[in-house]
This record gives sequence, C-alpha cells and structure tokens, in this order.
Amino acid sequence: MTGRPAPEPAPVGYGLTVTRPSAAGPALAEDDLAMAYDLVFGDSVGKSYATEAYDIAELVHQRHPGAASLLDVACGSGLHLSHLRGVFDHVEGLEIAAGMRRRATDRLPGVAVHAGDMRDFRLDRTFSAVTCLFSAIGYAQSVAELRQALDCMAAHLEPGGVLVLEPWYTPDQWTPDTVHTAVARDGDRQLTGVCHSRQDGHTSIMAMHYLLGEPGTGVRYWTEEHAMTLFTDEQYRDAVREAGFGRIEWLPGWYDVRPRIVAVKA
Ligand SMILES: C[S@@+](CC[C@H](N)C(=O)[O-])C[C@H]1O[C@@H](n2cnc3c(N)ncnc32)[C@H](O)[C@@H]1O
Repeated sequence: MTGRPAPEPAPVGYGLTVTRPSAAGPALAEDDLAMAYDLVFGDSVGKSYATEAYDIAELVHQRHPGAASLLDVACGSGLHLSHLRGVFDHVEGLEIAAGMRRRATDRLPGVAVHAGDMRDFRLDRTFSAVTCLFSAIGYAQSVAELRQALDCMAAHLEPGGVLVLEPWYTPDQWTPDTVHTAVARDGDRQLTGVCHSRQDGHTSIMAMHYLLGEPGTGVRYWTEEHAMTLFTDEQYRDAVREAGFGRIEWLPGWYDVRPRIVAVKA
C-alpha cells in the first residue's frame, strides 16, 4: 500500500518551509563555540580589543609605574592577551572553559593559560595587574561568589598592583524582554545570532540562538543560555574594598553604559 503522499509543509516567510531541530545538523564541538565567540565578539560589536588593551596598559602604568606582569582572569579566547603580551613583560590567563582555553593557547604560544575558576584559584605567584574583562564577573551567581572572585584576584596582586574590572549591567541598566541580533562572517564562514534577554530576580538570562554556515560542513544550529547576576554598584564597590583595594575609581566604559572599575591593592 502506497498511501497518499504527505502534504507539503506550508511555506513560512521567505521561502522557508520547515524548521529543523538542532539534532538534524552536524554536531558542534566545544572548540566550535570558541570559534563562534571570536566571530561574534572579536572586534565586531563596537569593541576593539587592541584599543582596550592599550587603555588597560595606560591605566595600569599610571597607577603602578614599572608594572611588568598581568593576569587576565576569565580570559576567554585570549583576545585581550594577544595585545597585552606586547606591552607587559609577562602575561598569563585563567579560564574555565576548555574550548576557550585551547583557542587562547593556540593564539598565544608561550603564554600560560591556566584551567581555573575565578571564584577559587591559586597560581602561587603575584602580578602587577589583574584584569577581568567583558563582564565575565557577572558569571558569579551571588554576592558571596562575587567576593570570593575579588578575594582571589587581590591575592594574585603585588602591593600597589592594579585591578581593572569590567562589570556586568546593574539592575537599573538592564532591560528585560529585548531582542538583539548579530551577523558575522569570516570568509565563507557566516554566522547569525538572535538573543532574547529576560530577568529572573537578580539574574539576567540571555537565550541565544545561533546559525553557523560554512562550506564543507553545512549549517549548524545551537542555543546557549547565559545567566549573569545583576550586581549593584554598591555590591561591586563593597566587594572590591573588602578584598583590600583602595583608590577605587569608576571610569566611563569602552562602548556602552558599563563602566570600568579600576582599583589599587593597598
Ligand atoms: C564574555 S566572555 C569574556 C572573555 C574575555 N575576557 C573577553 O573579553 O573576550 C566570559 C568568559 O568568562 C569565562 N568564565 C565564566 N565563568 C567563569 C569562571 N567561574 N571562572 C573562569 N572563567 C569563567 C567564560 O568561559 C568566558 O570565556
């Protein structure tokens, strides 16, 4: 029995006729996520990692002349370090995600990129500067975790050493139920992302949907959900002060309302 052919799916929009779940596409590895991160964020959303790195060097040297070493906490794929390594004699990174670490290590031959959690790490040395950039600190899920992370950063600074911290949004700055899109390409590799942001108490949640197409592999679809805490300015200030920092300054941000917090270890 042949039966009747299944009806054609109704066309939707511009010639799209069906949607497929992510399982229908080729598998995605952790290294692909790190590659996609660079595609979306590497200097493509109004960011310039080079400019930020040279600003950081200036901020550090103004407050701590002779600063020679720097640790980038939650360094991701090493984009800041790729510039900072030319300014400081010695740089290292710390990163929790294996795919990001591999990408950073490939990008930065000879630079130590440690596997570690910003809330609990010990490298048995100190640095002239510690950075924690692009709001990675927002992954701390509570005030207690925020303080643990700041304590760890302070413990890795020499006296007079400089902290440069780029906070996540405060509750006042966050607008839930908004949609953002990103389009990026690198040669024939093309990516589109759509993000819906929401809020659950003091936590901001970003549901990101990505489509990545490249010759030889096809089109892959995946989603990511990022939960980041909306700490207040006071919570940041208290955590920085109680970790043993003085000369705490709020400077204008590089590209949106998020400021830069700069402080000196007493
Ligand atoms: C928004 S990215 C920023 C990466 C990099 N600092 C930059 O500016 O491109 C946040 C990074 O924080 C890392 N991360 C999240 N939680 C972490 C933790 N508890 N300890 C260390 N790294 C963490 C993520 O894996 C990711 O690479």
